[in-house]
Amino acid sequence: MTVYNAGLIIGSIASASINRRLASALVKLAPQADLNLTEIPIAPLPFYSYDNDGSIPAEAAEFKAAIEAADGIVIVTPEYNRSVPGVLKNALDTASRPWGTNSFAGKPSAVIGASVGAIGTAVAQQHLRSILSFLASPELAQPEGYLQMRDGLIADDGDVTDASTEEFLLSWLKAVHTHIAKSLSTEV
Ligand code: FNR
Repeated sequence: MTVYNAGLIIGSIASASINRRLASALVKLAPQADLNLTEIPIAPLPFYSYDNDGSIPAEAAEFKAAIEAADGIVIVTPEYNRSVPGVLKNALDTASRPWGTNSFAGKPSAVIGASVGAIGTAVAQQHLRSILSFLASPELAQPEGYLQMRDGLIADDGDVTDASTEEFLLSWLKAVHTHIAKSLSTEV
């Protein structure tokens, strides 16, 4: 099966981020789904302003190039105040501009997230899907990935310590692989 190289965007810059822990688990499991997941960091990005569209900051240019080079993008998002964290929205705005250079256009994407609450980032993911739709990124519709993080699911090093969680994450990654394959093979 074709191995795809997917970019990984983690929507939290917190040092003890539970979404970074989830992302580490996905990176470890990805080869079993014929995927390589490589983080595209958002922490170095300056705040987006169209004042800089004429001379894009180097960090923004590097971020956009990494998205464009990837076969697809996996976004692991927390839910902050029933939406995506500001740092993630800043990254998406950065990727979308300057006008006419939207790095997400046509790029297959998949979203997943973990929260401490029972709804497992469902509201944030709906907001994220809305943004990705506007950015013309074909999104993985199903399965949805809403994780309530609790002790005993995923260790700090990304080892999944719960069998049903591992089974779900692997099936989700396989769906991501199929989604990328279908998106890239579409001919017009
Ligand atoms: C939260 N948290 C949270 N959880 C949730 O399920 N729905 C929400 O709307 C919010 N809102 C919220 C706002 C802010 C500013 C913070 C810091 C936290 C709790 C959140 O799920 C928890 O802090 C996670 O650990 C956040 O993910 P990361 O940053 O650790 O990956």
